[in-house]
Amino acid sequence: MAYLNICRSRSYKSHSSSFCFLVLILLGLVLCFGVGEGRVPFACDPKNGLTRSLKFCRTHVPIHVRVQDLIGRLTLQEKIRLIVNNAIAVPRLGIQGYEWWSEALHGVSNVGPGTKFGGAFPGATAFPQVITTAASFNESLWQEIGRVVSDEARAMYNGGMAGLTFWSPNVNIFRDPRWGRGQETPGEDPVLAGKYAARYVLGLQGDGAGNRLKVAACCKHYTAYDLDNWRGIDRFHFNARVSKQDLADTYDVPFKACVVEGKVASVMCSYNQVNGKPTCADTDLLLNTIRGQWRLNGYIVSDCDSVGVLYDNQHYTRTPEEAAANTIRAGLDLDCGPFLAIHTESAIRKGLLTENDVNLALANLITVQMRLGMYDGEPSAQPYGNLGPRDVCTPAHQQLALEAARQGIVLLQNKGNALPLSPTRHRTVAVIGPNSDVTVTMIGNYAGVACGYTTPLQGIARYAKTVHHVGCRDVACNNKQLFGSAEVAARRSDATVLVVGLDQSIEAEFRDRVGILLPGYQHELVTRAAGAARGPVVLVIMSGGPVDVSFAKNNPKISAILWVGYPGQAGGTAIADVIFGTTNPGGKLPVTWYPQEYLAKVPMTNMDLRANPARGYPGRTYRFYKGPVVFPFGHGLSYTRFSHSLAEAPKQVSVPFATSLHAMNNFSTISSKGMKTSHINCNALELGLHVDVKNEGTMDGTHTLLVFSTPPAGKWSAAKQLVSFHKVHVLAGSKQRIKVNVHVCEYLSVVDKFGIRRVPMGEHEIHIGDNLKHSVSLQVPEQIHF
Ligand SMILES: *[C@@H]1O[C@H](CO)[C@@H](O)[C@H](O)[C@H]1NC(C)=O
Ligand SMILES: *[C@@H]1O[C@H](CO)[C@@H](O)[C@H](O)[C@H]1NC(C)=O
Repeated sequence: MAYLNICRSRSYKSHSSSFCFLVLILLGLVLCFGVGEGRVPFACDPKNGLTRSLKFCRTHVPIHVRVQDLIGRLTLQEKIRLIVNNAIAVPRLGIQGYEWWSEALHGVSNVGPGTKFGGAFPGATAFPQVITTAASFNESLWQEIGRVVSDEARAMYNGGMAGLTFWSPNVNIFRDPRWGRGQETPGEDPVLAGKYAARYVLGLQGDGAGNRLKVAACCKHYTAYDLDNWRGIDRFHFNARVSKQDLADTYDVPFKACVVEGKVASVMCSYNQVNGKPTCADTDLLLNTIRGQWRLNGYIVSDCDSVGVLYDNQHYTRTPEEAAANTIRAGLDLDCGPFLAIHTESAIRKGLLTENDVNLALANLITVQMRLGMYDGEPSAQPYGNLGPRDVCTPAHQQLALEAARQGIVLLQNKGNALPLSPTRHRTVAVIGPNSDVTVTMIGNYAGVACGYTTPLQGIARYAKTVHHVGCRDVACNNKQLFGSAEVAARRSDATVLVVGLDQSIEAEFRDRVGILLPGYQHELVTRAAGAARGPVVLVIMSGGPVDVSFAKNNPKISAILWVGYPGQAGGTAIADVIFGTTNPGGKLPVTWYPQEYLAKVPMTNMDLRANPARGYPGRTYRFYKGPVVFPFGHGLSYTRFSHSLAEAPKQVSVPFATSLHAMNNFSTISSKGMKTSHINCNALELGLHVDVKNEGTMDGTHTLLVFSTPPAGKWSAAKQLVSFHKVHVLAGSKQRIKVNVHVCEYLSVVDKFGIRRVPMGEHEIHIGDNLKHSVSLQVPEQIHF
């Protein structure tokens, strides 16, 4: 989302900026009048005598009937002004204006115009950035964060400071390490991203009793959007060329999980084109896939100004009316931006669109508002109506933010068990680096105003006497003036902690990186401080995307390396807790850490996941790239050691046909191509494994069990892929049994070149953790061998 970026990109090209100006004025009006102290009921105010006669206000009438009643009372002009994010008021029906755009990626955010802080709501709990939380691989944590964020969001709505429609989470695959928005996502693996999407959305939207929504979430940006601005190619002009295979087995997977499992109330289409079509004008993607196949119960929204972008920047249609008609008819319900408010009426007059098309879009929007309770009168009389300022930034919420940071920190290296440090032996600690005492850097982008912060320096100061030197004034680190005093501090202290990395000046929306090394002279600062250090040296990398830190990995003076992502408001406490061992780290990398050399072989514009050796293309993500890495996907150490053993596992699973499909298959085709999942009776078809996890060390710890599988060799690209993950706390010296259920059609399937999901018959190799393997044979049932 980026009204402001759009304005910037337009003025770069010296287009007229009056359009932007108009948008900004409208935003300003919304901020002044749409959001104030205390909330007047959005509609159906019981104090307003008029509304008692309106059927759409009657809560006992079924929602679809209320929706049609309301639509029947609206004029065409009113309808058209209701399918944009700053929807107008309809005073004659007692309906207030509504700003649809709010954000809650990892805490209530004020990035969208629908939410602001101030008054009784000075801030909200700022959880770690999503990439960090993903590293916890803890599904219940993700849902719990969603629950807390929506408590705070409802409280702010009740206080007139926020909307109820939040355009979060971002579940695009983190395909390329340079992507500036990779930090917002749950990483590079589709199964991980899908689980994250579903759980966070379930947390936000509530338990859905009777179809009600606590708040409405939105999975974005559909689809294959993961390039912002790289070497002059920007998202407003990018045409992502994506194969059917990559779309079905990677890019679409998190969105499908979000809609099908998470039951999300909204999906946002993206700025870019996919195979020559803007996603927001693509009937196949919107109507056929999201609404048809996945059965979205909710609305589809454009990215901000993306309808304008497909007309103005991409010149996809000849006239603005065609742009309006194409998008609405493709399944778009809401325009973030003014375009549809301006051009829809003349599109109808020109016969490109009918009023009924607009009614369909409007019905999807109003249905969501009704499920949110917006037409049920007094907010305080409704579920969640009791939430208020005292429910925001509560001690329990802030504790969860700390807990999330602890769970997301990844111990990348720990030579000679240098960590944890000991408060009795390491009494003075040199704390060095441009990110050593930062606050807002820790919350990344799409954040709000935090309740408060604990910086890394403050966190470490709770355990030891600190000597602080930034070494570089900022992450750009353009000179070495301050290196000398940093070296002196390292020399005189019992231990040295270097907190380096990136911030939004390096990786951000509309800012992809060109390289993945530490910026400026940071590398030299680390090397020099480490060289001078007397005690153990701990390198802490604060970043969203991966950083090539091979130099540090190979430097014998650097004992330990931690990746902390952007750890949120309590990040400094969590970092110190890990360094001093009151928390035993259990996070794992949700993305591959590539060496810098990798970048030369992969133009950011190449969307292919699979390697193409003939063209020197190495492939992307751990599933397809087999070259050298700095740290692999799933890597993460602990202060203890865990071992795995299989207690119980079937050697064979029989795959039943869906009824009477024998005729459509024969044994030779099945054995060469696998069975289409649509021809299998997939319900409850699971591979059940019982795995024992033993803590072999002397410290209690939390283990993240990752289960991968490889399809039968030969015919299938033998990609190893994540099929299941489990988080388990195991006391020192003890053992825990985990039941792993792998859904066969969903996880042991592969996607063919035509985008069709098939289950290969034969030996699948299941990888449990790093060292344990188990073979399971998938077979068609005996009685229908041919
Ligand atoms: C089995 O399928 C193959 C490939 O589609 C086809 O050529 C062959 O005729 C089929 N055999 C029978 C018995 O249907
Ligand atoms: C997962 O997170 C939840 C919420 O913080 C926590 O209660 C639980 O202990 C975590 N699971 C493990 C195994 O650490």
